[in-house]
Amino acid sequence: MAELLTLLGIGKHYHGAKALDGVDFTLRAGEIHGMLGENGAGKSTLSKIIAGVVPPDGGRILWEGRPVSFANPAAALRQGIAMVFQETSLIPSMTVAQNIWLGDEKAFNRLRGVYIAAQQFLQSLNFPVDPTAEVSTLGAAKRQLVEIARAVRLRARVIIFDEPTATLTPEEKRHFFALMRRLQGQGITLLFISHAIEEALQLADRITILRDGQHVITDRAAAFSRERIIALMVGRTLAAGYSAAGPRIPRPAGERILSVQDLSLGNVVRNNAFSLYAGQVTGIFGLVGSGRTETAKIIAGIYKRDFSRGGNILLRGRPVRYRVPRQAVLDGIVYVTEDRKSEGFFENASIADNLYAGLLASPGHRSWFTNKKQRARLAELWRGKLKIRSLDPDGRVVQLSGGNQQKVVIGKSLVQRPALVIFDEPTRGVDVGAIAEIHQLINQLADEGLAVMVISSYLPEIMALSDRILVSRQGRIVEEFPANEMDEKKIMYAAVH
Ligand SMILES: Nc1ncnc2c1ncn2[C@@H]1O[C@H](COP(=O)(O)OP(=O)(O)OP(=O)(O)O)[C@@H](O)[C@H]1O
Ligand SMILES: [Mg+2]
Repeated sequence: MAELLTLLGIGKHYHGAKALDGVDFTLRAGEIHGMLGENGAGKSTLSKIIAGVVPPDGGRILWEGRPVSFANPAAALRQGIAMVFQETSLIPSMTVAQNIWLGDEKAFNRLRGVYIAAQQFLQSLNFPVDPTAEVSTLGAAKRQLVEIARAVRLRARVIIFDEPTATLTPEEKRHFFALMRRLQGQGITLLFISHAIEEALQLADRITILRDGQHVITDRAAAFSRERIIALMVGRTLAAGYSAAGPRIPRPAGERILSVQDLSLGNVVRNNAFSLYAGQVTGIFGLVGSGRTETAKIIAGIYKRDFSRGGNILLRGRPVRYRVPRQAVLDGIVYVTEDRKSEGFFENASIADNLYAGLLASPGHRSWFTNKKQRARLAELWRGKLKIRSLDPDGRVVQLSGGNQQKVVIGKSLVQRPALVIFDEPTRGVDVGAIAEIHQLINQLADEGLAVMVISSYLPEIMALSDRILVSRQGRIVEEFPANEMDEKKIMYAAVH
């Protein structure tokens, strides 16, 4: 295969620190190329340089052997390079169809034409998305699909995907893999970044590993194993992942902190009933769209139940009805969002300010006067606890790598000293090492006596973490499994049938 794109000695500094350091990299025409590395290794930065989103500050880029430089994404796109971003860049107030045809609306003289075209296009991709839906109403998974659709429509010769599968269900992933292969069949070159090592092994022709802003290796996927990839990623051998955990003795249930009865919200949550206990991790497994996030958001006061027949929420036996999330926080209930970009943090504030904002919202902290020392101590503490890595300690959170942003979101909730924490997809976009750290933290919270609820679409994660697993299907919990009776097949069956 011919070399389509060649990067030579690419460097990038932020605040005097190296995000990329003399990286050489090639893309061959027609290949599927996987890029792996820890959080903050430089994967997104490198792909943004290829896509003209950020300029390199050293090195050269060759396109079919000729030097090129892209002043902006439009210039890269003219050359044939499109990028699907890690944190979605859709316009929330516009519909799916409008987003897919953004910038090319003139091709249609009526809005209806856009919808018909979008309908057909989405169908051809096998994407179950309503073209007339406003993007703000879609969950993370469907937003991702819209973004992928937009890139596909642009008919680029190279499409870069930054963690495309992190938000997809197993079913959607299969569709996505098939789509990738179809695109490859049409001669399109694909570069994808992923933390799912098995996916890269399965899908990629070649794999590149970055570590601390440097190129470590590029080789045929067949030359790698999971263990070898992890060792190359972290520069040392890591203890086996959580897949080895298997069934274990569940922690005993403490006080019943929260119970919901007959909980309903439109068609999404239907007569849902379950309880959460202190000192335990309760895992909620279900397919995307099974009402898990909505249930969590009702508990946390973010969504409102149907007023007349919405059911009951009892906190330590006392009925509660929250109008705003702050009331839930004051009662000791926090929700760690799955959608960090739009609801997780103040992107233009520093890590310290984000943590402090979390603290101010918690019980007993009424003063909005900023205490500089307290803020610095707080940042220091949580930076250490969660191993948050940033080049510039006082930089804005938006400048952190995806996985490190996730840690800030978690920290911001935990400073509120909750009695019940709800984690929604807590390790999405987080590297193998950091997953272990976050899992350890979740276990520690339960050991300290908190009630912990974990929502995840990734069954091994749920199985490794939970003392009991509740399976959600079509808006309600349909089955419960204690940790010592977990069975992957039974859980899957309950979720689907
Ligand atoms: N705009 C920016 N300002 C300051 N630092 C930045 C900026 N963009 C990225 N960085 C830093 O550059 C380094 C590489 O970040 P990058 O986003 O490329 O990592 P990544 O490999 O994509 O990680 P992840 O797997 O977490 O997404 C990180 O330390 C990050 O904090
Ligand atoms: Mg990234």
